[in-house]
Amino acid sequence: MCNILIIGAAGLNGRATLTSLYNKSDLSDHIIAAVRSEEKAQQLKADYPELETRVMDIEDPSTLNQSFEGVDKVFYITGNIEQREEHAKAVIDAAVNSSSVKDFLFYSVFGAEYEAILFGRQFRYGEKYLENTNLNWTHLRTIFFQENLFGWAEGIKQGALYLGTGEGKFAPLLVKDVGEMAANILTSQGHAHKAYNITGPELLSGADIASTFTDVLGKDIAFVSPDNATTLDSLLNTGWSLWQAEGMVELLNLFAANQAAMVSPDGEALLGRPLTTLKEFVESNKVAFA
Ligand SMILES: NC(=O)c1ccc[n+]([C@@H]2O[C@H](COP(=O)([O-])OP(=O)(O)OC[C@H]3O[C@@H](n4cnc5c(N)ncnc54)[C@H](OP(=O)(O)O)[C@@H]3O)[C@@H](O)[C@H]2O)c1
Repeated sequence: MCNILIIGAAGLNGRATLTSLYNKSDLSDHIIAAVRSEEKAQQLKADYPELETRVMDIEDPSTLNQSFEGVDKVFYITGNIEQREEHAKAVIDAAVNSSSVKDFLFYSVFGAEYEAILFGRQFRYGEKYLENTNLNWTHLRTIFFQENLFGWAEGIKQGALYLGTGEGKFAPLLVKDVGEMAANILTSQGHAHKAYNITGPELLSGADIASTFTDVLGKDIAFVSPDNATTLDSLLNTGWSLWQAEGMVELLNLFAANQAAMVSPDGEALLGRPLTTLKEFVESNKVAFA
């Protein structure tokens, strides 16, 4: 039996991972969730009663170090924060300094190894820092989530998908699938020193995505690819911080240039089943877009 610590457990990927772990009928490991407040701990325990919770803030070294006590494996899901590098360094240092951690699963981003855009450079810093330790590292590099499209729901409700990806294609991915991949990695052997590149199952252009909405919703959804300034303004107006909005514009441009236009086999291999398509995602969440 292993003690598995999940950092970022209360977030989207954290919950998806917990759900998949507890869905395993043969789960023999003990799961520990690191969360930032007692309130979040209670919310998680309500949904996952067997879970142990530890209240920890990466920016508070004493709580960070304590959260590693007796831990064998770590899954570190980075927060959506500008200081991704500093956080990764602090978490990896704490894992190295604990006497118990052997395996470290690092949540990263698709294409991190090219360091072509801000998000890639932020995550690659943590990957490299981890690779220079004696820990058994594994990188889980994920692409644009299907769930991100909830952020575009208002436009879709009004009849258009405004996504600055031009004619470029990419393969959007369902977070629930990522959670199951993470749960499989955490509960099996053979993942040391591997980087998994995780995309969704099909290459889609913005026009393909809009036509998926058209088919499922039964009404015309146009595709509009706004210019960078318009995308930036609309992200800032919906509450995104500047660094993050600029990072998203960079990412959309990379998609527009077809620089992430591939379907990786890694996700399906980790799941042992086909990945969830965008059509299935939209069908399951019709009400949010109608
Ligand atoms: N959206 C995409 O398409 C995409 C694709 C690839 C990668 N990513 C990145 O992948 C990562 C995971 O995504 P996600 O949606 O699961 O993120 P999320 O829902 O924001 O979860 C991140 C978790 O990190 C925790 N956290 C933040 N700061 C912390 C701190 N100082 N100490 C301890 N915990 C802290 C948060 O805690 P609280 O719950 O207390 O806030 C949250 O639970 C993010 O960095 C995201 O940007 C996103």
